Amino acid sequence: MTHKLFITGVAPDAVLRRAAADYELSVWREPQPIGGRLAGLARGQDALIVMPGDRLDAAALQTLPASVQVLATYSVGHDHVDLAAATARGLPVYHTPDVLTDAVADLALLLVLAAARGASDAERCLREGRWGPWAPTAFLGRGLQGRRLGLFGMGRIGQAIARRAAAFGMVLHYHKRSALAPSEAAGATYHDSLDGLLAVSDVLCVAVPSTPALRGVLDARRLALLPRGALLVNIARGDLIDEQALFDAVQRGHVAGLGMDVYQGEPDIDPRWKTLPRCTLLPHIGSATEEARTAMGLLALEGVAAHFSGRPGANCLNPQVYAPR
Ligand code: DGY
Repeated sequence: MTHKLFITGVAPDAVLRRAAADYELSVWREPQPIGGRLAGLARGQDALIVMPGDRLDAAALQTLPASVQVLATYSVGHDHVDLAAATARGLPVYHTPDVLTDAVADLALLLVLAAARGASDAERCLREGRWGPWAPTAFLGRGLQGRRLGLFGMGRIGQAIARRAAAFGMVLHYHKRSALAPSEAAGATYHDSLDGLLAVSDVLCVAVPSTPALRGVLDARRLALLPRGALLVNIARGDLIDEQALFDAVQRGHVAGLGMDVYQGEPDIDPRWKTLPRCTLLPHIGSATEEARTAMGLLALEGVAAHFSGRPGANCLNPQVYAPR
């Protein structure tokens, strides 16, 4: 029997071809997120692949039809899925780790460089016809050599960022719950507290998964611990930062530049973002390479296939749903 699969966003061709070969496939192709329409459109579907912008909280999971036996998210981050509620319902949830690590780490370095060199303001100046004569003091940024990079989060993506930043001569520091083995730490110094990391971060890079306990963790008190003139890059999730506190810190010059890929309320972000000086804003494109997005889609399909083959896949976030009851 061919199972029915619904994907809530348009995937690269190779992914759609594989999905169409293996399943009776439906795809949400509208430009706006599927939102509350998911429950209705999922009727009769056996499997769902959802996007990181789809909110699958307990209430949304409750409205899913009983036909849905497996859920995969087209992302490594799964903060948008209430895992406890999915588990209570017996619904396995799959995600797509590893295959996007290099793409996201590359983008983190792009944002570190953009923030350090004021690339967005300089480009805007050129585009708007405000480029004056070459002058030794025009468009002055700062170099990365010898600057301290603080990595908040040192999982697969944090480690990949560390390896890249080391090649730029940055001095590495990190905070996570427990210290890594030296072979994984790329020479980075461990801080057992976030406060300790912030105090030594000329550039702070947020690379930690969002969990309820970490929402708003970078609040006014903690941002004030950064050295004056620090740069901040976020490639993780917007809800880790108290945005009002960050806007204030930028306006006061305490934080001198930002490189942002993620925000609260994406894609309808606070309009004040667009008015901030010295700030590069990207629309959540960390994993947006052809290679990574194709590999992510194929990995999500692998999770769905593992489920239907009766063997829990390696990327299942709640394998306990497969335990005999
Ligand atoms: C992820 O996979 O969590 C990324 O944020 C999506 O680009």
